[in-house]
Amino acid sequence: MNVLGIETSCDETGVALYNAERGLLSQALYSQVDLHATYGGVVPELASRDHVRRLLPLVKEVLASAGIDKPDAVAYTAGPGLAGALLVGAGTARSMAFGWDVPAVPVHHMEGHLLAPLLEEGGPDFPFVALLVSGGHSLILQASALGDYLPLGESVDDAAGEAFDKVAKMLGLPYPGGPNVAALAEKGDPGRFQFPRPMTDRPGLDMSYSGLKTFTMNTIRACLKEAGLSVEGKISGDALPEQDKADIARAFEEAVVDTLVIKCRRAMEQTGLKTLVMAGGVSANKRLRASLAQALSKEDVTVFYPRPEYCTDNGAMIAYAGALRLLQEKGESLEISVRPRWPLVELSQPSSSTL
Ligand code: KG4
Ligand code: ZN
Repeated sequence: MNVLGIETSCDETGVALYNAERGLLSQALYSQVDLHATYGGVVPELASRDHVRRLLPLVKEVLASAGIDKPDAVAYTAGPGLAGALLVGAGTARSMAFGWDVPAVPVHHMEGHLLAPLLEEGGPDFPFVALLVSGGHSLILQASALGDYLPLGESVDDAAGEAFDKVAKMLGLPYPGGPNVAALAEKGDPGRFQFPRPMTDRPGLDMSYSGLKTFTMNTIRACLKEAGLSVEGKISGDALPEQDKADIARAFEEAVVDTLVIKCRRAMEQTGLKTLVMAGGVSANKRLRASLAQALSKEDVTVFYPRPEYCTDNGAMIAYAGALRLLQEKGESLEISVRPRWPLVELSQPSSSTL
């Protein structure tokens, strides 16, 4: 069974073909990073229009490189994400499925991220604890089986990726923020600033990142003053000496990483499980990967994370999630609907896995 996967929830057009017996046959990704860079963030209308332009050529490319004329199903991201961008993928996917007379499978974007590490050879088995950290979500959940996801904790305000992106803007770094903050942090002095570890002094697994943004802004202001630079009007860390910026980026990154490590360690204790799966764009962060693996190895926990291209948005995770879901799902109406807001816990659990 060949499943074509379509991802258009934000600023990446991702297409892939997954074969249930042979694994991933081909994939292609078009990133809109350059398109949005001028604006410092994703412009939803531009994103939708660009998905319209890129999607069909990518579908043709993926099918041709796999040597397949027609897949057996089309899986697409139905939410959460940007409404217009989702509609481009959903409309195109369902039209193709209708034309080919094959099923169309709506996929939850975060379930795609959650299952991405299972795409790898030697990937984890259920049950596991999952840390899902992306631009729109920060959550820790217990994944007992496909579709059986128990939320253990989440961010009460900004998502971790969103905080990285906002701090990047404060420091005058280009979009996308996360990788740029991480690169700059490499040159930073870890001992210069001590940022707080929000919500770690109380029990529970919820997280908060908006206070770290304020702390970052206050630190930028103090550094500007120290350097004799203006702190009038709209403050930007762009004017700061490179070393100041790097030290701030380092302190911020370490605070986010430490917080996530503390929460994950608690989640492992609470559930008694020995497998932690990281997914979502922020799981590409090297310091987070290394710190989690190191901290949890002492507790005999194995940490799985996908290769970097499966951490951020891609078509492979959607094709794969669609394949896993396909045989359990009931026939769907021809109505094209998307869910820009869609809590992962509202996903139903299939009665049994057939793959
Ligand atoms: O999963 P993703 O591609 O899209 C969403 O579903 O949101 O995640 C994108 C997020 C962005 O906020 C980006 O800044 C962050 O992941 N990100 C990183 C890194 N790479 C991507 N954050 C920290 N360090 C990274 N290396
Ligand atoms: Zn994503």
